[in-house]
Amino acid sequence: MTTMSLFITLEGGEGCGKSAQARILSKRLAQLAIPFLLTQEPGGTALGARLRRWLKWTQNETFSPLSELLLFNAARAQLVTEVIQPGLDSGNIVICDRYTDSTIAYQGYGRGLESALVKTINDAATGGLKPDLTVLLDLPAEEGLARKKARRRDRFEHESIAFHRRVRQGYLKLASAEPERWLVIDATQSKDKIAQIIWHKVSQLLASRGKTEFKAAEA
Ligand code: TMP
Repeated sequence: MTTMSLFITLEGGEGCGKSAQARILSKRLAQLAIPFLLTQEPGGTALGARLRRWLKWTQNETFSPLSELLLFNAARAQLVTEVIQPGLDSGNIVICDRYTDSTIAYQGYGRGLESALVKTINDAATGGLKPDLTVLLDLPAEEGLARKKARRRDRFEHESIAFHRRVRQGYLKLASAEPERWLVIDATQSKDKIAQIIWHKVSQLLASRGKTEFKAAEA
């Protein structure tokens, strides 16, 4: 791995704005000619795209929490092998819209699966690969769901408000247990303000990895 590679994940509940922030961050890196890959979970590979459709849009059929856990991790195993690990190995910044913390928050805290089981399966899928930075866009569950109102709701957006509150609390617990990895941002702030906070952190990380050209570009 070169010194430049950095693995950044974005997390949060429904409607928190993480996908928009992933795009803004990518654009900034592109402008500075810093090599990066932007991907998402579930998805990012042919298998992942199929599993994404199943997991989000299956109707009139209930998945057991364990099946759901395994399906998300099947998509993840493929993504790590095919995209994330090779991307990092060749010195890219890899930005992933959701990763293992989503499974702990949704299948663990949301569905009620034991955290230890979720972590074991997550680790099997990733080979233990952890993000260098995880950004949590934190938002009250009601507010995030309200942002989605106008659009067609998927299987998770149809879950109860209690489910989404558990997901939020789960994320906050994860973040406070590992503060050195997490950057928690109040996602009620403007898109520009959030982008600025994320960039501040990412640029610090890049500078600390000794990317001198990057420092010059910023000066
Ligand atoms: P999104 O990409 O639009 O956020 O949709 C992905 C949905 O899948 C979202 O509701 C969160 C959910 N999810 C899980 O329940 N577990 C997981 O491990 C992942 C990656 C996503």
